[in-house]
Amino acid sequence: MTSIKLTDNIYWIGAEVHSEDLFEGIWPTPKGVTLNAYVVKGDKTAVIELVREWGGASLTLLQNLKELGIAPKDINYIILNHLEPDHTGFTYTLRKLAPNAEIVCTEKGAALVNGFYGINDKVRNVKSGDTLNLGQGKELVFAEIPNVHWPETMVSFEKSTGILFSSDAFGSFGSFRGSIFDDEQPTANQPYWEAEMLRYYANIVATFSPSVLKAIDALGGLDVKMIAPSHGLIWRGAPKAVVNKYIRYANYNKDFAEPEVCVVWGSMYGNTEVMLSAVVKGIAQTGVPVKVHRVPNENVSFILADAYKSAGLVIGCPTYEYAMFPPMKYLMDILVKKHIWYKKAGYFGSFGWSGGALKDFNELSKNMHWDILDPITFKGYPTAEDLAKGEQMGNAIAQQVKDIPSKIKDEDY
Ligand code: FEO
Repeated sequence: MTSIKLTDNIYWIGAEVHSEDLFEGIWPTPKGVTLNAYVVKGDKTAVIELVREWGGASLTLLQNLKELGIAPKDINYIILNHLEPDHTGFTYTLRKLAPNAEIVCTEKGAALVNGFYGINDKVRNVKSGDTLNLGQGKELVFAEIPNVHWPETMVSFEKSTGILFSSDAFGSFGSFRGSIFDDEQPTANQPYWEAEMLRYYANIVATFSPSVLKAIDALGGLDVKMIAPSHGLIWRGAPKAVVNKYIRYANYNKDFAEPEVCVVWGSMYGNTEVMLSAVVKGIAQTGVPVKVHRVPNENVSFILADAYKSAGLVIGCPTYEYAMFPPMKYLMDILVKKHIWYKKAGYFGSFGWSGGALKDFNELSKNMHWDILDPITFKGYPTAEDLAKGEQMGNAIAQQVKDIPSKIKDEDY
């Protein structure tokens, strides 16, 4: 892609990446991901966020600068809102090309500029309220948003245009599909962006939801006219819409999830799968939407999004060598890590010579604020009585979530 004008003297200079490499080494991005970087030109020139070398991204950034008539040596400031290397991997090289550029970041960010890239000189530490006047009416003000999602994170706000360069906050997986702007996306793309935004939030940000809500409160005084995150769409037409989405997402782990049930299952020889059918039948009787995922066949990234969003969560897996079926254990570890809290939950699973999966389930879920119905375990193939219990469990969980009103709606904010 070429550079794209946001407004006079402010441009997107980032890259779209379509790569088999996993994001953060964990999360697949089959529909691509964007590394958004920006340049703001006054008398001085600032780049905000960079890229890492990934699918030619750093060369694209240099080409985009060149197209705007900006040589690296002309860059005065490299503003690093967030030091995770998807945005800063190019820092060492760019600093070699732009030896006079001053790096601007928080004090905690400076420690990582040194840690990742060995750079100590010409690093300016800023804190909330500090400003940087670029001339010709362009002035940046900085605001720290710690733990969204790393401790050193800040945002940069350009006062004259009302553009908030929000770092990972309000970001998304997915590539642009024709335009970087929300107001140029066809309505038909809305489900695509909703899915990619939710998956990004659940995978990357969910653990830090209280910090997201704090940051949104802290930024409430800014007259934001456009939100330019580090991944995904630039919100020009409806910046409030993306803030509202993030408020909704942040509340999913505060017992305000959607009235849906997510069922995750794994089976060795089909016995647990038989019980799956009974549980899903019980859910379906209520009319409550149900999403069914199988481990290890499906990637946890996608399962996590549905598990996070749904008020009901059922785990079904057998015992494997006296413990939980290993692919489910991995998923449960991720659910713990990502604070997939406050669910109406259930467990079912088969065992052969001994149990063990339920013990792991109980241990892993003990601090998750889950309201767990009586678990169902069975030796080998489930009996008719077992299956009746499974149907009842599915029905009961669905009934519990059915009446949960969606307490947080985008339009509420
Ligand atoms: Fe997109 Fe936390 O880096």
